[in-house]
Amino acid sequence: MKIANNCIQHIDVKGKKVLLRCDLNVPIHNGVIVDDRRIVESLPTIKQLLLNGAGVAIVSHLGRPKSRDEKYSLKIVSEKLECLLGVNVRLVDDFLNEDPKSLFKPGEVCLLENIRFYPEETENDTIFACKLASIADIFVNDAFGTTHRAHASTEGVTKYLPSYPGLLLEKELNAFQSVLESPNRPFVAILGGAKINDKVVLIKNLLEKVDKLLIGGGATFTFLKARGINVGKSLVDDTIIDFVKELLEHNDYQIELPVDIVVTDDIENPTVVETVDIDGISDGMIGVDIGPKTIEKYAAYIKHSNTVVWNGPMGIYEKEAFSSGTKGLAEAMQYCRGVSIVGGGDSAAALKQLGLENEVSHISTGGGAALELMEGKVLPGISSLQVTI
Ligand code: 3PG
Repeated sequence: MKIANNCIQHIDVKGKKVLLRCDLNVPIHNGVIVDDRRIVESLPTIKQLLLNGAGVAIVSHLGRPKSRDEKYSLKIVSEKLECLLGVNVRLVDDFLNEDPKSLFKPGEVCLLENIRFYPEETENDTIFACKLASIADIFVNDAFGTTHRAHASTEGVTKYLPSYPGLLLEKELNAFQSVLESPNRPFVAILGGAKINDKVVLIKNLLEKVDKLLIGGGATFTFLKARGINVGKSLVDDTIIDFVKELLEHNDYQIELPVDIVVTDDIENPTVVETVDIDGISDGMIGVDIGPKTIEKYAAYIKHSNTVVWNGPMGIYEKEAFSSGTKGLAEAMQYCRGVSIVGGGDSAAALKQLGLENEVSHISTGGGAALELMEGKVLPGISSLQVTI
């Protein structure tokens, strides 16, 4: 889908209140934001709206809380945003408890506390969406990473307010356009990360688009187990084993799995960390990263491809001892001879850490959303916007 360029420049926001959906779901380890990309990438739209005379109420989720849980508070994000924006950002603890008409004024910025503190958000509750809409005059969706969710703050709210795409959403869609419309082949997708259940179902459709699919990260062990390989205590989703078996049966040539794995006895306090071939994972061991032979194998695919899309880390990237696979692929991405797109916080963080951010065509703020877009799905957070071409 093509989307208008610089849409928010063409709407009159002067003196108006804008409800802005951002995806500020940033990785936080030990109370520290380890990658602020999603905040930084949200700044141009906020600044543009302020410059054009609007007031901005930002909505975002953080993690997947089922109800109010201070562990998932956006406080730390609000502080970072304030610092990067250079403008006062008021964190609104509970917008339902405040007068919707006086929550914020033109020229001001506020951030609503984690919208997933309200179960009505993910239920896409009509009354909740209506209440959310009542605080503003216009809705702008800039949360590319959440466009695959039909939630109250991404889709529901569009029924009550004129709704437009933000600058980041436009940038992302434009970057994916060439990959979606006519990818130069060979086209390789690399899939890692921990949200296995979310992703495995996407694979079926993805296989219709790509020439090769390289599997790493959390999904690896469900695939290995489906092949009858012992995975010890590694992360496996048994509910999808049959589905994965079928995928492997029908697409064996297209799907590549790791040939060696870094294993440990304990993720938090490892006494053993070693690399074994995939048929050498013993019962008590947990797979935590891809091994060097797999890095080499996957790097060769990247090098010989004309389009590569990489989504999600190859191991438990936040732990130094299990980050080599992700770093190895980040290094390899610079040798892709065509379009290279990297999505997912940890893969992007690895590129940044290695100073290779400018060596890829595009670093996406989307994880699952980018994958669903590539599958060719209609994303509710995009199709519900009014200004699309
Ligand atoms: C992401 O991190 O991919 C987005 O923020 C969406 O989060 P979700 O998968 O929890 O909806």
